[in-house]
Amino acid sequence: MKPVDAAGDFLDVLVTKDQINERLAELAKQIENDYQNKNVLLVGVLKGAVMLMADLSRQLSFSVEMDWMAVSSYGKGTTSSGVVRILKDLDADIANRHVLILEDIVDSGLTLSWLVQNLRARQPASLEVFALLRKPEAIQVHVDVKYVGFDIPPDFVVGYGLDYAEGYRNLDSVATLNPAVYSERP
Ligand code: IMP
Repeated sequence: MKPVDAAGDFLDVLVTKDQINERLAELAKQIENDYQNKNVLLVGVLKGAVMLMADLSRQLSFSVEMDWMAVSSYGKGTTSSGVVRILKDLDADIANRHVLILEDIVDSGLTLSWLVQNLRARQPASLEVFALLRKPEAIQVHVDVKYVGFDIPPDFVVGYGLDYAEGYRNLDSVATLNPAVYSERP
């Protein structure tokens, strides 16, 4: 078994767990303010948004519903293919619901723009996006993201739900991966 935080695997810790907690608390206040007297359905995008769903939802003082969607856009590589497939659809009908999508990261924006279009067609009362991370320099398609945790450089990152070849999701901070790790796994 390999430690999740083996020092040599990472170049830099970009966002620490304390920074994440502080930022989520700030954004939770904003969400509470924006959704007063509304029932909110949080839609987490699997698997990357699992930590975000768990931590953000517990910072909210009102009761929310949760649903999950799984889409595939990457396979095992580190660049977006732009081809999106639904692996798991929502359980709930979102017509007339106030939907807030929780996404781990907006890189090219291709996945999110596809998802927003797909969910908008189901006629929710409102549809907004929360992304923990955004890489402004990597954007290829503009998507309105109402709540952004952190803007980061366009490097590949892991941790706090984000993976490389399914590993490192349980790292409690967000870190850039040492390129030496890519060459270990062809
Ligand atoms: P996009 O379509 O390029 O915006 O990529 C969206 C999805 O790719 C995200 O939801 C992530 O699952 C994955 N992704 C993008 N950048 C990274 C990264 O730096 N590390 C890990 N996964 C990433």
